[in-house]
Amino acid sequence: MTRILMVCLGNICRSPLAHGILESKLTSNAFYVDSAGTAAYHVGNQPDYRSIKVASKHGIDISTQSARQFKVSDFDTFDHIYAMDASNYTNIISLARNNNDIGKVKLFLEENPSISNKNVPDPYYGDIDDFEYVFDIVEATSTLIARKLISAGL
Ligand code: 4NP
Repeated sequence: MTRILMVCLGNICRSPLAHGILESKLTSNAFYVDSAGTAAYHVGNQPDYRSIKVASKHGIDISTQSARQFKVSDFDTFDHIYAMDASNYTNIISLARNNNDIGKVKLFLEENPSISNKNVPDPYYGDIDDFEYVFDIVEATSTLIARKLISAGL
């Protein structure tokens, strides 16, 4: 079983989309996908209604997800930890205990050579078009990640 964790700030906008989209591309017997936020503002909340709406439009149901905060034991549970932006990356790395922990953490968009800005923009204060844009880049990048994971036989 390969375990992948998607991390943003609040775990209500970006990482729930990345969680739902990547999960839809992998078999549940070989892969476990989850998401978390570096902050605790929204713990226990459903994803933002705009993320739910955009995902649903594309046939993905993320409405049953519940926000949680990233915790140090996630370094033990997960094989790959993807940060949505550089600030999330720094916050995760600040909790790392050793080089093994650090080695599991990557910027999500580092997996997509076609996108030069490596930060998934935070759509929280934006409008539905910002959520659509996040969906599109997360979808394209998740396809590349799924392909890589499957071909690695991990
Ligand atoms: P997310 O977006 O990190 O993609 O879930 C945000 C959600 C909430 C807040 C900021 C970003 N907030 O400040 O409450």
